[in-house]
Amino acid sequence: MSRILITSALPYINGIKHLGNLAGSMLPADVYARFMRARGHEVLYICATDEHGTPAELAAAKAGQDVRTYCDEQHDIQRRAGEQFGLSYDWFGRSSSPQNRELTQAFCEALDKNGLIEERTDKMVYSIDDGRFLPDRYVEGTCPHCGYDKARGDQCDNCGRLLDPTDLINPYSAVSGSRNLEVRDTKHLYLLQTKVEGRLRDWIASHDNWPHLAKSIANKHLEEGLIDRGITRDLAWGVPVTRDGKPRPGFENKVFYVWFDAPVEYIGATREMFDAKGDPEGWKKWWRLDAGADDVTYVEFMGKDNVAFHTVSFPATILGSGEPWKMVDTLKAFNWLNWYGGKFSTSMNRGVFMDQALELLPADYWRWYLIANSPESSDSSFTWEQFQATINKDLADVLGNFVNRIVKFTESKFEAKVPEGGEAGPLEEKLHADLSTLIAEATQAFEDMEMRKAAQAIRRIWVLGNEYLQEAAPWTAFKTDTGRAAVIVRHGLNLVRLYASLAQPLIPSTAEKIAQSVGESLPMTWPSTDAKAELSRLPVGQGVAAAEVLFKKIEDEQVAEWTQRFGGSEA
Ligand code: 2FM
Ligand code: ZN
Repeated sequence: MSRILITSALPYINGIKHLGNLAGSMLPADVYARFMRARGHEVLYICATDEHGTPAELAAAKAGQDVRTYCDEQHDIQRRAGEQFGLSYDWFGRSSSPQNRELTQAFCEALDKNGLIEERTDKMVYSIDDGRFLPDRYVEGTCPHCGYDKARGDQCDNCGRLLDPTDLINPYSAVSGSRNLEVRDTKHLYLLQTKVEGRLRDWIASHDNWPHLAKSIANKHLEEGLIDRGITRDLAWGVPVTRDGKPRPGFENKVFYVWFDAPVEYIGATREMFDAKGDPEGWKKWWRLDAGADDVTYVEFMGKDNVAFHTVSFPATILGSGEPWKMVDTLKAFNWLNWYGGKFSTSMNRGVFMDQALELLPADYWRWYLIANSPESSDSSFTWEQFQATINKDLADVLGNFVNRIVKFTESKFEAKVPEGGEAGPLEEKLHADLSTLIAEATQAFEDMEMRKAAQAIRRIWVLGNEYLQEAAPWTAFKTDTGRAAVIVRHGLNLVRLYASLAQPLIPSTAEKIAQSVGESLPMTWPSTDAKAELSRLPVGQGVAAAEVLFKKIEDEQVAEWTQRFGGSEA
């Protein structure tokens, strides 16, 4: 048994997340966590809301709330949505927690002591009417690259380019709309990443096991060379800047940049969890090499836009601190899940959001679709038609039907009990052999975090069961040879049990119902690759009972209605 630490990129606090966010980090991290738990490992799966930075402040202002109240409410909304989606976080924290504040300040102080922090004077956009600096998204204007007139100071939503607030043409304040702006000098802390570059290169080079996308993005950033990075902002909401535990002179009205404190919250959230349990030192055995964390395997999940922060900036902070922190072992990154070839967008309200999705269908339908179409090797696109086809075929026709058919047959012909008698024949031997290969394939794919491949292997296992049943035809055998029919039914019911155990990471609520239909319950341990053994687990005589319909087919009328409501191909 190993100890496995899993983190998902932290969702921004500004509103409930769309399916693209879910597919790119929180969901695959959950699937991996559930798989690893089923394998018998000790898992700690951590996530949190990313609450600082301009998106939070601006969203709060738009909602007419003070930022703390806004974050309190939105955190609860996101926590509930996560629960409803079956995201099995061991802790869902908040980057605005006292634990994170303390850790973030301590990191900066350690870097400072190691000569890696420098005060520099920057030129920043200042709004005379608002009486404040306008960092990042506080300033909007025309994109110098594509001419889009609502580009934000940090990035253009139209062409996706990263911007600096002073790049914008005709800039205006996002707070008041005022164009009465000027560029003023302001002091900021810089993290001297250039001084950590050698150590960072060695560290990245020592990780040739990272999945391809993460590794290639990390290398691209290294090739471009590291630059020193401003880690403070002229904002009121965020982690205050300290020196020797007291407000840092000249920085009383500044806070850390959101990307400085956000990854620290992986540790902060762990500490929140152990504090809540009354074990204030407990977090260290997951994060401090001097407290036993050297036997932890740490895996991070994130969208591709986050890779640079996790392979360069955050590791530079950790390495620069000179302290014995547990660092990531494997990063799994994802491309974009698009909405009809365009982007899902929170600011433009485009796509389906987590709460809306659950109004339409239970979580497992979405979970299956999003994993089976995971944007791993390239971007993938959501369409209602493909969603309908995937659900109807994989879940309703292949899985749902199989379970229903064999359990109902047992109810009507074998007194709703696992039957005894009969000997396995050539059909069963072939089933064992094929199944053993596919279980091994699914297991390896999950181990490798190849989500799409894992879903494919599992789907093939479901298909195999259907083929077996079709060929063995217990309904025909029953008429002439009840012993033979009993063998087939017993195999069929054991396949149902196997399907429940294999489906646990992907569609956990349905897996529970499937297990119950053959008198079992979750959690189940992950199956071995000895299919013969796996298909003889159910005790003879155990009662079975068909579940209500496991999956309802999606009708054309529903697709039409949803396309109307959420938009579709015009996006
Ligand atoms: O891109 C995002 O959605 C960020 N909120 C991810 C932060 S990940 C971690 F570093 F906090
Ligand atoms: Zn642009």
